[in-house]
Amino acid sequence: MQPRPLSMQEVLDMLDPQRIAKFLHVEVPIRIAERIRWIQDIPNWEEIQELRDIHTSHMKVFRDLRLVQRRPTLDAFTAVVQHALHAQQPVRHKVALAMHRLHTQRGEEFGSDFTDPWADDFLLNCIGTEMLMSQYLACVTMEDSGARQRGHAMAGIIDPDCDVAQICRETAMKVQEITEEHTGRCPFIQVEVFQERAIPRFSYIPGFLRFIMTEVLKNSCRATAEVAKSDRDVQKRPINVIVCADDHEVAIRVSDRARGIPFGVGQKVWSYLYTTAGKGPSNYGQHATSLAGYGIGLPLSRLYARYLGGSLNLVSLPGYGTSVDLFLRRVNANQVEIVPDNDADDSDRRS
Ligand SMILES: Nc1ncnc2c1ncn2[C@@H]1O[C@H](COP(=O)(O)OP(=O)(O)OP(=O)(O)O)[C@@H](O)[C@H]1O
Ligand SMILES: [Mg+2]
Repeated sequence: MQPRPLSMQEVLDMLDPQRIAKFLHVEVPIRIAERIRWIQDIPNWEEIQELRDIHTSHMKVFRDLRLVQRRPTLDAFTAVVQHALHAQQPVRHKVALAMHRLHTQRGEEFGSDFTDPWADDFLLNCIGTEMLMSQYLACVTMEDSGARQRGHAMAGIIDPDCDVAQICRETAMKVQEITEEHTGRCPFIQVEVFQERAIPRFSYIPGFLRFIMTEVLKNSCRATAEVAKSDRDVQKRPINVIVCADDHEVAIRVSDRARGIPFGVGQKVWSYLYTTAGKGPSNYGQHATSLAGYGIGLPLSRLYARYLGGSLNLVSLPGYGTSVDLFLRRVNANQVEIVPDNDADDSDRRS
């Protein structure tokens, strides 16, 4: 059975818990089964502890979802979805760790040419089920509290009137705090909005935008704090966030003056195997903090952007700074889930 990607419009048309539950009950097991197959496709996957863990938790969630009933009430189903979402939380770090382990134990055959596309597909698929399950749980909460009937501003986890600039400002403040806590320096972040005409309603998942902006700004703040020689020098290296839009797209550019990324690093920033904070698979994540350390901030952010048809690109100007461009689609019908398909050919899946 093939996954069935939804458009934003279809998700918005499914706010009744019964309706989304019916869809999710069929769809999530299909997507989980895909992920189980991808693990099993890795030769001797059982030798990698993290792959075993992920496999076991996926099998359990698959079974629980197949066995649970949606009648006479949704209560049992809701409990299973809550558990499934909870079980998915540690998966991203386990996937990254599994990729590091595969590479160190088996060498270049399992270098980034293998691990990065594999982890991209796996985690993009996870983002889709995370969205569906979170959306379902939010719809149940709204229904129970009567919020849907009262015409609550949120539609589950989706904000039909998402204020991108406000999210950027709030995230900037939070990231400044994290940076100051870890480096003692507080980079200056300026958010500017350019819009020629009134922006039409834009449905988006604020949680996903917050994730992307947090990761991108953490990288810029960390680099700025490390490069600056003094507090005055920090002030001379402001981080600029530009928000602009037309009827079809919203674009956000984050640019810093932290001297850029060394030329030799290039595309490696998108690799799950690359970080300059705490190196090596044996101590993977050991020195990680809430500011940096796992090497998954950029690749994961790009997946969150891609998930509904957007994109994330990075340009480094050597010796000057780095700029990251995020594009998001804003027309509901054009915001369609990207769900990697095991049966499609590789070039389609990974382009
Ligand atoms: N704006 C930037 N300026 C300089 N270097 C950067 C910038 N953004 C990313 N990098 C480099 O790219 C690497 C990978 O970034 P990424 O966000 O994927 O991982 P990380 O920050 O090391 O860890 P985390 O998983 O916590 O985000 C960083 O370790 C850093 O060396
Ligand atoms: Mg990072």
